[in-house]
Amino acid sequence: MKVLICDPTAPEAIASMRQAGIEVDVRDDISADALPEVLPDYDGMVVRSRTKVRTPLIDVATNLKVIVRGGVGLDNIDVAHAQSKGIAVLNTPAASSVSVAELTIGYMLSLARNIPQATASMKAGLWEKKKFKGTEVAGKRLGLIGCGRIGCEVAQRASALGMDVVFTDIVCVELGCADQIEFDELIRTADYISLHLPHIEQTHHILDEEAFAAMKDGVYIVNCARGGTVDEDALFKAIQSGKVAGAALDVYEQEPSKGHKLFTLDQVIGSPHVGAGTAEATERVGAEVAEKMIGFYKENF
Ligand SMILES: NC(=O)c1ccc[n+]([C@@H]2O[C@H](COP(=O)([O-])OP(=O)(O)OC[C@H]3O[C@@H](n4cnc5c(N)ncnc54)[C@H](O)[C@@H]3O)[C@@H](O)[C@H]2O)c1
Repeated sequence: MKVLICDPTAPEAIASMRQAGIEVDVRDDISADALPEVLPDYDGMVVRSRTKVRTPLIDVATNLKVIVRGGVGLDNIDVAHAQSKGIAVLNTPAASSVSVAELTIGYMLSLARNIPQATASMKAGLWEKKKFKGTEVAGKRLGLIGCGRIGCEVAQRASALGMDVVFTDIVCVELGCADQIEFDELIRTADYISLHLPHIEQTHHILDEEAFAAMKDGVYIVNCARGGTVDEDALFKAIQSGKVAGAALDVYEQEPSKGHKLFTLDQVIGSPHVGAGTAEATERVGAEVAEKMIGFYKENF
C-alpha cells in the first residue's frame, strides 16, 4: 500500500505506518496544483484541513482507496463523491476535544476580564486600571449550542467554574452537570453562548439577526466550532448596538481570514483557527491517523 502524507503529520505516526509495512511518502506542503499529477500513484492519502479533496481531484485519483483526515471536520473533503467511488473517508474525531474545550474556557475568562485588551494596553505603556474592571463567570449562565464531544468537555469545565450550564442539541444528551433546554430558551436566558456543532445546511447562520435580537443585553458569544454557524454581519451589528458585549472567534466564514472587519471592534478577540493546535492534540491526532490507516491496510491488503 502506498500512502501520500499531504499535510503536516506527527513523525511517530509516519514511523508506525512504515513499521506496519505501508510505503509512506511525505509531501506535507504539496500544492493544490501538484496533487492531481502525483495522487494517481497512491492508494491512500493523509490530510488535515489545508489540503482540499474536491471532486475533480477525486476523479483523477484512480487508485485511491482511503482518505484519512487528521482532525474532526470533513468540510475540506467531498465525502459523498469519494464514497460513491468506493473510497473510504476516515477521521480522528475525539483527538482534539479537550484542546478545543480548553480554548473555549480560556475565551470566556478572557472576555469576562478583558485579558487581551488589557495586555495590549500594558504593551502600549498605559495603566488603565478602571477601564478593565471585569465580571466573574461564576453564577453566569452558559448556553452551549451543540453538546457532542467538545460541548460535553466544555460543560464539565464550566460547571467546575461555578457556571450554570445549559445546552441545546438535536439529540437527547444525558449530562449530570448541565440541563438540556430548547434553543429559544437558551438564546433568551444565556449570559454566554458558545457554539459546538458542525456547519451544515441546517446550522448555517443558526445565530442570525433574529437570534441576536432575542438575546439578553450584554451577552458574550464564543465560536470555536465552525465559521458559517454565526452570521458575521449580524454579529457585527449586534456588537455595535451593544446587544453583544463581546465575542471570541477561532473560526470564520472565510478562511484564511485576514483583516476581518470584526477585528476592527475592541470587543472582539480571536485566533486563526487554532482550536486543535496543541502539542497533546497533535500527538493524539497522529496516533489516531496511524491507527486508522494501519487498520485499513490490514483489512484490505
Ligand atoms: N476550532 C477548532 O480548531 C476545532 C477543532 C475540532 C472541532 N471543531 C469543531 O467543533 C464542532 C463540534 O465538534 P464535536 O467533536 O463536539 O462534534 P460532535 O459531532 O461530537 O458534536 C456536535 C453536536 O452538535 C449537535 N448538533 C448538530 N446539529 C445541531 C443543531 N441544528 N442544533 C443543535 N445541535 C446540533 C449534534 O447532535 C452533536 O451532538 C464541529 O463543528 C467541529 O468541526 C473545531
